[in-house]
Amino acid sequence: MNSKYEPAFKPFTFPSGVEIKNRIVMAPMTNTAAYDNGEVSDEELAYYRARSGGVGTVITACTYVKRNGQGFPGEFGADSDELIPSLKRLATTIQEEGAKAILQIFHGGRMCPPELLPDGQPISPSAVAAERDDAMVPREMTPEEIAEMVQAFGETTRRAIEAGFDGVEIHGANTYLLQQFFSPHSNRRTDKWGGTLEKRLAFPLAVVEAVKKAVADHAEKPFIVGYRLSPEERENPGITMEDTLVLVDKLADQQLDYLHISVGAFWNGSIRDTNDKTSRVVMIQERVGDRVPVIGVGMLHTPEDVIAALDTGVPLIALGRALIMEPKWIQKVEKGQEETIRTTLPKEDQKELVLSDEMMEYYQSIPGWIPVV
Ligand SMILES: Cc1cc2nc3c(=O)[nH]c(=O)nc-3n(C[C@H](O)[C@H](O)[C@H](O)COP(=O)(O)O)c2cc1C
Repeated sequence: MNSKYEPAFKPFTFPSGVEIKNRIVMAPMTNTAAYDNGEVSDEELAYYRARSGGVGTVITACTYVKRNGQGFPGEFGADSDELIPSLKRLATTIQEEGAKAILQIFHGGRMCPPELLPDGQPISPSAVAAERDDAMVPREMTPEEIAEMVQAFGETTRRAIEAGFDGVEIHGANTYLLQQFFSPHSNRRTDKWGGTLEKRLAFPLAVVEAVKKAVADHAEKPFIVGYRLSPEERENPGITMEDTLVLVDKLADQQLDYLHISVGAFWNGSIRDTNDKTSRVVMIQERVGDRVPVIGVGMLHTPEDVIAALDTGVPLIALGRALIMEPKWIQKVEKGQEETIRTTLPKEDQKELVLSDEMMEYYQSIPGWIPVV
């Protein structure tokens, strides 16, 4: 291996005590290939097996904590104990290849496609539609439903523990339910769950507490709890960087194992103010210092990209699309073969890249995301 890449290959110990062998994380990526009953499919297991041999830890695709939170067709579920054997197969597959396994726990809220939901009705903190074409007006959640939702995140964490996962990542990013509670666009409530910035923090913090309680009650060995967030929203009103720095300060006090900053590109500045060019990831790293580790992500494809990002002081880097296109990314860098890393997804390599037809169809349905050639 070229010695300049060594910093990416140093082991890392999370605050909970879980150690990983290097600084590279597989980013959570939905693949729409689960079975209709919510079980992880054999194709998905093969996909994860092919990608778990090099990275320190794999964060799985998001999984719904309640059936009315399914955000994607072919999303595997974690909302009932019947699905624990399926989750166990996933955790074991990842761990057998040498990576730690983190389950991304999620509810889609108003972003759920109605046709995927049992009653066709998305829910959200308030009855405000997303500013997207054809977005349906969600039903405002009742206080009882909110309390049940908090418990559902705790219950799913217990299932992750019983299934043998090394951790969970609370999906508080990418416009989904936790972000909807934090956002002044989607949360117009006037009860204890909304109204002020402080109250918009209440649901994310309640979920963190429920997840940590599940860990304290059920985990018999160190267990990772991470939180993923998106720093800004384009909408007005919408989440601003000032809001996010308050959230980040609160989260930094929760003894979490990491904050994962979901942005399109690690080096991008503000999406609200194009004159503000400072990387949102770097801003958050500077804000939290050594209070909680940060995972940076976004358009980092080459080992040079990873080293430049690590040089900012962010201790962990997630790779997403790079690992879809190149399952052996780490092994190639380790062997000094980085020039052979794929930067496109050639259709004729589908089998070699261990991608199912569903996965290929999905990637082709989100043009601009993955260069399928
Ligand atoms: C096909 C695909 C599916 C994704 N699914 C998820 C997901 O389930 N949860 C999530 O938090 N982010 C998801 N993301 C976002 C990625 O985790 C990552 O933040 C994004 O791809 C940017 O990183 P990259 O440039 O390394 O790909 C997805 C991205 C892609 C390309």
